[in-house]
Amino acid sequence: MKKANILALLLAVMMLTLAFAGCNTGTDETSSAASSSQAAASSASDESKTSVTVPEKIKNAGKIVVATSADFPPYEFKDDNGNYVGIDIEIMQAIADLWNVELEVSDMKFDAVITAVATGKADVGAAGLTITEERLESVNFTDTYTQATQVIIVKEDSDIQTIDDLAGKKVGVQLGTTGDIYASDDDAIKDGVECFNSGIDAVLALVQGKIDAVLIDNEPAKAFVKQNEGLKIIDEKYTDEAYAFATAKEDKDLVNALNEALAVLDSNGKLDEIVNKYIKAD
Ligand code: ARG
Repeated sequence: MKKANILALLLAVMMLTLAFAGCNTGTDETSSAASSSQAAASSASDESKTSVTVPEKIKNAGKIVVATSADFPPYEFKDDNGNYVGIDIEIMQAIADLWNVELEVSDMKFDAVITAVATGKADVGAAGLTITEERLESVNFTDTYTQATQVIIVKEDSDIQTIDDLAGKKVGVQLGTTGDIYASDDDAIKDGVECFNSGIDAVLALVQGKIDAVLIDNEPAKAFVKQNEGLKIIDEKYTDEAYAFATAKEDKDLVNALNEALAVLDSNGKLDEIVNKYIKAD
């Protein structure tokens, strides 16, 4: 690696650290990382006949390494057999199939995903990642594949009915998420923000009465409320957001190829098929 590249990388890492607003981490970002290869699920599917651009680096490696935080149903989680599943995982598997390469899932804490991508430890970040200005300083994002909102989970008998009611309450968030960043930036609630390593940890703290509310993305919120009795989502949403996949800033080929692949999966109905498998209309 050239000296200039190393400097640029160092600068990017420093900017990442400085730009981080929200709960303090103090964790070693790689310590919880675990990798697993999942064999390409489909063989000679129709998609594999479509000709798409395969990034040189991915073709040579024969695999695409995806950084995720598999604690976020229905986007990424582990099934009963310990396999990585969910919308993001299946979209990435479909892209790996299109490119005729293997998918390698690298599971880590959410707050390590952007750094893993920015420093080249993973090719793509697929973790229900919301596009934010701050993240755009260190990574590229693909086209959006889903719209989302931040919502508030409370106990069914809670006196919290609106966002204004959160003032003075204990609000749980997942470390490093937009929920964390927005809540830590919101004068009305920032003193009561409590960070958890995962959304489900925050939800369990709510169930146990240790906190009053959880601020989290809408679909995981629905999944967690379904899994735990006595919880509800309040009607008012906190923000609107858009999800996309993240790639290293300098790797324009990769983001372009991902967008091309996403367009193929969009036009052949595969994207809808994956989303509809995991999200049933209410
Ligand atoms: N959309 C939110 C964000 O980008 C939360 C994503 C959390 N993802 C996860 N796999 N735990 O910050």
